[in-house]
Amino acid sequence: MGDAKPGGNAKANAGSVAQSAAQSRPGRKLVIAIDGPAGSGKSTLAALLARKYGYTNIETGAMYRALALKALESGVPLEDGAALAALAQRSKIELVPTSEANRVVLDGTDVSERLRSQEVTDAASKVSVHPPVREWMVASQRRMGAGGGIVMEGRDIGTRVFPDAEVKIFLDAAPEVRGTRRFLQVPALAGQESAVLDELRARDQRDRTRVNSPLVAAPDAVEIDSTYLTLDQVLARAVELIETKLNAGSSK
Ligand code: DC
Repeated sequence: MGDAKPGGNAKANAGSVAQSAAQSRPGRKLVIAIDGPAGSGKSTLAALLARKYGYTNIETGAMYRALALKALESGVPLEDGAALAALAQRSKIELVPTSEANRVVLDGTDVSERLRSQEVTDAASKVSVHPPVREWMVASQRRMGAGGGIVMEGRDIGTRVFPDAEVKIFLDAAPEVRGTRRFLQVPALAGQESAVLDELRARDQRDRTRVNSPLVAAPDAVEIDSTYLTLDQVLARAVELIETKLNAGSSK
């Protein structure tokens, strides 16, 4: 117990494009790091890239959310970093890739839907400020990505988890646009626009200003501002970066 690993093989979901990409460059298995604030489109981009290249998609925010859910359910205070890290060690968090997104299995139970509640969203941001929690998460994530062939998305992937990742993307967008995307994704939020936007800004502020591994672009990350871009345009830019690395020879 106490480990987190992908509970499946994203290659099973790879389409023909992914297969031809992999066949043309056998042995090239990149680490693709995607960081950015909530609602910037990281998860959608990561899922599309993982499918295209036959890579495993690892959504690290889901791991913080799973720990937050367990803390809420077991009464561990969100302010107690040591107790939260101990809770993480007693937990089994599995990310199971599907063609849509990761399913999240916590201690054998699929909790994917429950992780999206506002309460868990807020708690995940609070849980993630604690250094002992982050140490456990980072160690787990490094193990999960050790073999390459992964698209890992979160807040500190290019800066802390995989500082040597071959491809680093920092995806951002104006807060209003990110808020609007959330309403479209979660119809139940209709009518609560200003509350959701306030929550998004508060979470941004906490994620960007925490002492340990704040949300910041790695110096060598390529920043993509998707405020005025369509998903296809963002995807095309990311694919261009990846293809450049894949075609650059075997050194990196
Ligand atoms: O990506 P997300 O919204 O599911 O992430 C939930 C919270 O987890 C977010 O508020 C910040 C935190 N997080 C983090 O600190 N580091 C990561 N690599 C991923 C998420």
